[in-house]
Amino acid sequence: MKILHLLEENKDKTLSGQVIADTLSMTRANVWKEITKLRLEGYEIIATPSKGYQLTNYNQNFSKYTLEANLDGLDIEIYKSLNSTNELAKESNQTQRLIIAQTQTKGRGRMGRSFYSPQDKGLYFSYVIDPKLELDKVPLITIAAACAVHKALPVNTDIKWLNDILINQKKLVGILVEGDIELQTHRFNKIIVGVGINLFKSDVPDELKDIMGSLEEFTNKTIDKHQILIDFIHEFDELVQLIGNNEEDLIKRYRKHCITINQKIRYLGKEYKAIDINQLGQLIVEDEFMQKKIIQSGEIDDQN
Ligand code: BTN
Repeated sequence: MKILHLLEENKDKTLSGQVIADTLSMTRANVWKEITKLRLEGYEIIATPSKGYQLTNYNQNFSKYTLEANLDGLDIEIYKSLNSTNELAKESNQTQRLIIAQTQTKGRGRMGRSFYSPQDKGLYFSYVIDPKLELDKVPLITIAAACAVHKALPVNTDIKWLNDILINQKKLVGILVEGDIELQTHRFNKIIVGVGINLFKSDVPDELKDIMGSLEEFTNKTIDKHQILIDFIHEFDELVQLIGNNEEDLIKRYRKHCITINQKIRYLGKEYKAIDINQLGQLIVEDEFMQKKIIQSGEIDDQN
């Protein structure tokens, strides 16, 4: 048993350093070192002189123990604050890694935009995988991530092509998939699936007030961020298996929830009607002369 597990099981109590050391057969110096590490990961642990340690703010913190118990084979890192989980993921080639931050000071969105990530108000994470995919299959990762978020959330949401998850036309989730291409093989060394979910209401900057929503506004149920994250990873892992095996099934699931189809959209200043999503996850649109065009990625605007 690890210290975190012990503290979590006794979260209403203060445990003395000696009790922890005896229970876990470790020295008191090592108990102190482990407690320091946990604090750096973002856990709030109160140390009361001559009494001991107690884990507080349990619901605000992420429980590494709960996540590890439900997500086999992943290296899980939890930080109180990071500039961006995607940025940290980029710094190494390690895969099978899940990086979570309680806040991001430079959360990144698509098109060089920033992603507002206030402390403890959301689920901000990067899942780093190595699915060994050809370049043209990579948009399907975003498709899989959008479907997995849709399934993991306890409310019904809409997917706006390519990777926005909306509720009542407000953006609840942003997804940013990034990767390193290996030039010789034209494959990705690793793919970083960055997901930001707005869970709780926060002091949203004026410019985001009309655009951004939080899960709390749309459900009366208790929000269990661990369960959402665990369900996302399980569902995403399953959906990624469809890439190269049964992409039609993946696209079928995506289409079911994608509100962009049949909508009028604007792309690079021109008006189109969105017709369908193809096998590569691209958007097929038609202009006023019924000329079809394929949009790979990039921003589209709603017309109505
Ligand atoms: C977008 O909507 O433009 C994409 C937003 C993606 C935000 C997530 S939060 C976790 C991960 N780290 C980042 O810096 N960005 C992604």
